[in-house]
Amino acid sequence: MRAQTILFIGLLGTLNASSATAQDVDNGRKVFDMCLACHEAGGPGPVLNGIYERKMGAVKGFEYSETFTNANAEAKTWTEEALDQFLAAPQTYLPDNKMAFGAVTDTKERKDLIAFLKTLR
Ligand code: HEC
Repeated sequence: MRAQTILFIGLLGTLNASSATAQDVDNGRKVFDMCLACHEAGGPGPVLNGIYERKMGAVKGFEYSETFTNANAEAKTWTEEALDQFLAAPQTYLPDNKMAFGAVTDTKERKDLIAFLKTLR
């Protein structure tokens, strides 16, 4: 293999690591199935449309726990990193929140799920 080819393949790998493919988003949509019961309209959780880069605890009329209300007052936002840490360990990231859900422990599943959440506008 020529050096140029090797360099090109290396570059593709780098691109893949940072940007989500359509396949990642599709997989994320499947992972999201376990969130739907609570997060669709009328469920016990706030709707997640537009969640990416929105302030934490910002759905009007939803009664958030104190930990979410405080995060909102501190102007914390749902960056990719914040979503990743929250979904990996919800009760560690925002202690005493009222989301009755364990965690998405698989790193790749979380990444795909976040890629999907970004598409919810
Ligand atoms: C058993 C119900 C339930 C399930 C299942 C659930 N959530 Fe939640 N979620 C909640 C509730 C309730 C809150 C509000 C928490 C609070 O006020 O402490 C919340 C809050 C959130 C927030 C913050 C919303 C905001 O406006 O700041 C995100 C993001 C979120 N959930 C994502 C998810 C994802 C992704 C899944 C699936 C992997 C999931 N949740 C599964 C009930 C649930």
